[in-house]
Amino acid sequence: MRTFLLAWGVLAAVNGLLLSCDASAQDTTIRLEGNGRLGPAADEHRGTSAAYGYEGTPHSVVPAMIALAGIVADDVVYEPGCGDARVLIAALEAGARKGLGVDIDPDLAEVAYAAVKTAGLEDRLEIRWGNALGVDMSQATVVFLFMGEAFNLRIRPLLWQQLPVGARVVSNDFGMGDWAPDRTVRVETPGRTYTLYRWTITQAIKDRVRVP
Ligand SMILES: C[S@@+](CC[C@H](N)C(=O)[O-])C[C@H]1O[C@@H](n2cnc3c(N)ncnc32)[C@H](O)[C@@H]1O
Repeated sequence: MRTFLLAWGVLAAVNGLLLSCDASAQDTTIRLEGNGRLGPAADEHRGTSAAYGYEGTPHSVVPAMIALAGIVADDVVYEPGCGDARVLIAALEAGARKGLGVDIDPDLAEVAYAAVKTAGLEDRLEIRWGNALGVDMSQATVVFLFMGEAFNLRIRPLLWQQLPVGARVVSNDFGMGDWAPDRTVRVETPGRTYTLYRWTITQAIKDRVRVP
C-alpha cells in the first residue's frame, strides 16, 4: 500500500504540474543567484509539489544513479525537476565539470540553490526556476530524471534531438515507452524497490531524428 501511495505521489506531482507545461515551450526559466530568493512573481506558484506529495530520490539510492551514469571529469549534468538538487550535487562531487538543475516549484528551486551554496558549488552548478521542457540541453552529457512516464515521453524527442552522441540519460523508476534502456538496475530500500534505467544517445538515434 505504501509503495502504491508513494508511486501515486510521484506520478501525481509530475503529471499534475505538467498540466500547464508545453514541450515546445520557450525557455522562460529564471536563474537563482545572490541570496537565492525568487521575487513576488514566484509566490503564486509556491508549494505546488508539496501539495502533490513531493518525493526526492532517496539519499541511499543516489549513489546508484551516479554509478549508472558513469560520471567522468568532463561531464555536464542536467536535471529537469531537480528537487533539492541532491542528485546533481552528488554528480559534481563525483567529478562532473558543471551542471544545471531546473524545478518548477519555486520553494524547491530555492532549497536546491541553498544546498548548492552549502556544498560550495554555486560557480559550477546553476539552479533555475521554471518549466524544464523549454531548456536547451545541447551541452549536457548526462541527464537525470525522476519524473513520471508522461514527462519522460514528452522530453524524449528533445533528448534525441538535443543531446550529443554518447550522452547518457538515467531515470529513476520510470521508463521511456518503446525506447529500450541499455542497462537496468534495481535498488532495494526498506519498503520499496527502485528501478533505475540508463539510455545512451547513439549516432543511429541522431540520424533518425535529424531534420532533413
Ligand atoms: C519526483 S520529484 C524528483 C526530484 C529530484 N529529481 C530527485 O530525484 O530527487 C519531481 C520534481 O519535478 C518537478 N517538476 C515537475 N514538472 C516539472 C517541469 N515541467 N519542469 C521543472 N520541474 C518540474 C517537481 O516540482 C519535483 O520537484
